[in-house]
Amino acid sequence: MLRNKYIIKQVEYRPTPAFQRCIIPGCGATYPLEEIRTACASCGSLLDVEYEWDRLRVPGSLTFFEEKWGRRADPFCFSGVWRFHELLPFAPLERCVTLGEGQTLLQPSEGVARYAGVRPGRLFLQYEGLNPSGSFKDNGMAAALTHARLVGADRAACASTGNTSASLALYSAFTRAVRAVIFIGSGKIAYGKLSQALDYGALTVQIRGDFDDAMARVQEVCRELGIYLVNSVNPFRLEGQKTIMYRVLEGLRWEVPDWVIVPGGNLGNSSAFGKAFYELHALGLIPRIPRLAVINATGANTLYELVEKQGLHWNQGNPDRALIDRYFGEMDAHGRRASTIASAIEINRPVNLLKCIRALEWCDGVVCEVTDEEILDAKAQVGAGGLGCEPASAASVAGLRKLVGGCIVGADQRVVCVLTGHPLKDPTATVAYHSADPEQFDQVLGARGVRQAEFANHPVVVDNDLDAIIKAIQTSGA
Ligand code: F0G
Repeated sequence: MLRNKYIIKQVEYRPTPAFQRCIIPGCGATYPLEEIRTACASCGSLLDVEYEWDRLRVPGSLTFFEEKWGRRADPFCFSGVWRFHELLPFAPLERCVTLGEGQTLLQPSEGVARYAGVRPGRLFLQYEGLNPSGSFKDNGMAAALTHARLVGADRAACASTGNTSASLALYSAFTRAVRAVIFIGSGKIAYGKLSQALDYGALTVQIRGDFDDAMARVQEVCRELGIYLVNSVNPFRLEGQKTIMYRVLEGLRWEVPDWVIVPGGNLGNSSAFGKAFYELHALGLIPRIPRLAVINATGANTLYELVEKQGLHWNQGNPDRALIDRYFGEMDAHGRRASTIASAIEINRPVNLLKCIRALEWCDGVVCEVTDEEILDAKAQVGAGGLGCEPASAASVAGLRKLVGGCIVGADQRVVCVLTGHPLKDPTATVAYHSADPEQFDQVLGARGVRQAEFANHPVVVDNDLDAIIKAIQTSGA
């Protein structure tokens, strides 16, 4: 299918042994790398980026990548995405877009381990808040904009609960690769994220509706206007997000954890993690695939309902589509809308549903749901433990606690929770949780059914008087 040589925007582009393929094995239609598409023309399903590995130079061991640490002055060795270029080689390295993404931490946390019920030393937090725009999305955006630039796109769009839009806005502003157009639901996006998109100069289109509405519209608009779409239906974006798992392995000296736990929204991350491990295993670079747990908020629990309650499986590429259609039909009939304090994952129609259930099959995965109160309590524990995260990220820790309670994860198992976004993304939720003002608590959290904040660290209000201040400090036990 690949042509030998073609010219894009005056730049000579040598095709790599990579192509796009429909994820449904019974279809398996393939498309050249340079074709811009987010669905299979033949059956409408999602696409993967695939590689002809036997035509590529694949490292014999993951330790191969350590050599790049010594060459950090090279931006492609510094990037936590592109230093793994050999595992996502869809573009020539010199044409890859980078902004120094993926300088992240894998940090053990005893406090959070105690809270979640696993033994000290067994829990690691993969902190993606350190990315340039403050969330894991930058891993995928570096890859998506690389492809956008390869195919000569001049505009890129996304619908977003906030982080994808912040990331696209930043990457477009900084690299000047494309002009960013972002779609958001009204009143549905945390201020930290909205402020980023506005500040970075993205055209910000606020739809009177929620994320699911914005997601449907952005796909129509991109088709109509020929705009490059960077939502996670874009298979190149997920290639970048595979590298989060490479860095987890790197942080564990290339040992495979027992569990990886991740919040689930549009289900791009979980899908990318599944692909990362599937490929590493197929290439003989890891001896086994870890188990995957995807955590939904109870107010946005499509995956949980379908997988755990109604028994949806990938079924080796033959999922029960009638079951999925019925589920969404009922959802629409009842006018059910996603609702959670974890606004990043406030999504009822995850576009990567099928890829995610495939990842669950590859990784012997499970799905769990957690309430907003459980999410906020877990978030306070992550904050007190030293890293901090936004509400959606804490779903991973809340989920772990539940899975340990249900004896699905063992206290001795080695677990990685992915902290997907920075704590400053959503200060409103954090301040309301810790507030001593019941009205503020009620307005933000009570309205969502949160009854109490078990780990609230109330600010101490005191008169502007030295004695009163000293007394307040002494009686606080500090
Ligand atoms: N955590 C955070 C902080 C997110 O921003 C998102 C998704 C997720 C988890 C869920 O990841 O969609 O791959 O399952 N945010 C998207 C956005 C939807 O528009 O920023 P997912």
